[in-house]
Amino acid sequence: MDTVSKDTISQKRETPGRILEIRRDFPILNRQVQDKPLVYLDNGASTQMPKQVMDTINAYHEFHHSNVHRGVHQLSQEATELYEGAREKLRAFIGAASTKEVVYTSGTTESINLVANSYGLANLKKGDKILISNMEHHANIVPWYMIAKKTGAEIVVIPILDDGSLDMDALSELMDNNVRILCVNHVSNALGTVNPVKEIAKMCRDYGVITVIDGAQAVGHFPIDVVDLGVDFYAFSGHKMHGPTGVGVLYGREELLAKMEPFMGGGDMILSVSFEKIIWNELPYKFEAGTPPIAQAIGLGAAVDYLNSLDREFLESYENDLLEYATEKLKSVSGLKLVGTAPGKISLNSFVIEGVHPHDIGTILDGEGVAVRTGQHCAEPVMDRFGIPATTRASMAFYNTFEEIDALTDALLKVTELFDVTD
Ligand code: ALA
Repeated sequence: MDTVSKDTISQKRETPGRILEIRRDFPILNRQVQDKPLVYLDNGASTQMPKQVMDTINAYHEFHHSNVHRGVHQLSQEATELYEGAREKLRAFIGAASTKEVVYTSGTTESINLVANSYGLANLKKGDKILISNMEHHANIVPWYMIAKKTGAEIVVIPILDDGSLDMDALSELMDNNVRILCVNHVSNALGTVNPVKEIAKMCRDYGVITVIDGAQAVGHFPIDVVDLGVDFYAFSGHKMHGPTGVGVLYGREELLAKMEPFMGGGDMILSVSFEKIIWNELPYKFEAGTPPIAQAIGLGAAVDYLNSLDREFLESYENDLLEYATEKLKSVSGLKLVGTAPGKISLNSFVIEGVHPHDIGTILDGEGVAVRTGQHCAEPVMDRFGIPATTRASMAFYNTFEEIDALTDALLKVTELFDVTD
């Protein structure tokens, strides 16, 4: 934990016009909560959806809704075209070589469960090791714990440093010929740390270790290229990149996916079924049992279009400015300690305030219209690592403004006043 110094940032900053224009695409940002203008700083939990995505989903329901891959009639063909068109958009969005490598799932959690069950269960045995970073979200821990119990494989934790960076020296030392799988997030949801995934993947390739990357917190913040990163599996969710809930993606290298058995059985994932023999469908359908989240997948394709329509380089640098501003402003709050200060982290500040429970902070902030997440952020081992029960997390997106950071700080000053926190 880092104690921030006490100089208050005196200079207010003005939000660029380009950001104010982008905000108009997000109707929810105009609403009031608790009679105050909404200040939405819970983007790590779920990002807001632009009107363009909502319009695409509505148009699908209004004009094209039908089941996919199942009908010769026009509506089914149109729905299939939209659904598969979205898959192609997602392929290009992450730089995958083929749509065979882009599996629709319900989100990051299902994506990782799929890898754990279809790859892990078949390939792990007693004596094997699964390396998991200490900063993982439960979605990249629990499925592996379940598989380790079934296979006898051992989970080994990659430690993190005091600033929330992954301990790369420790990782090098942990690598040996018994390691089979390495699980790490691209960006930590609790700390904001951006992990050196390309370097990690290279190290893993040298040892023949399979990489499982939780990209949930990365996709909304910066462009991804799975081939350049050199990863084996990459999981992400639609609702963390301004798309709908209920849909996500598992990217897997074709060579690996081709050898894996399906995770779930049902319609559409088979070519032929008899009581004696079942033949799986080709990739990626082998992993998509039952009626998929059609409207959501099409909406996710629209979210890709939306992000592609923006200048992402500008947004990334603007988010860095926001983070810098927020970090400075938080210095004016008595007793506030940041948790996670790794260089190059995304626009997220996790913090504790001496003597005040994060849930109280969250409640008071809510009363001021400021939405943050409080608790363990589904990353209990991170809290244990820092010896704290929970944090308050302000997670920003490109549509947040400097004025909203001022509102956050003002609300926090109310908290410290109320609880009489002094340094
Ligand atoms: N994984 C989400 C978060 O970090 C829910 O808040």
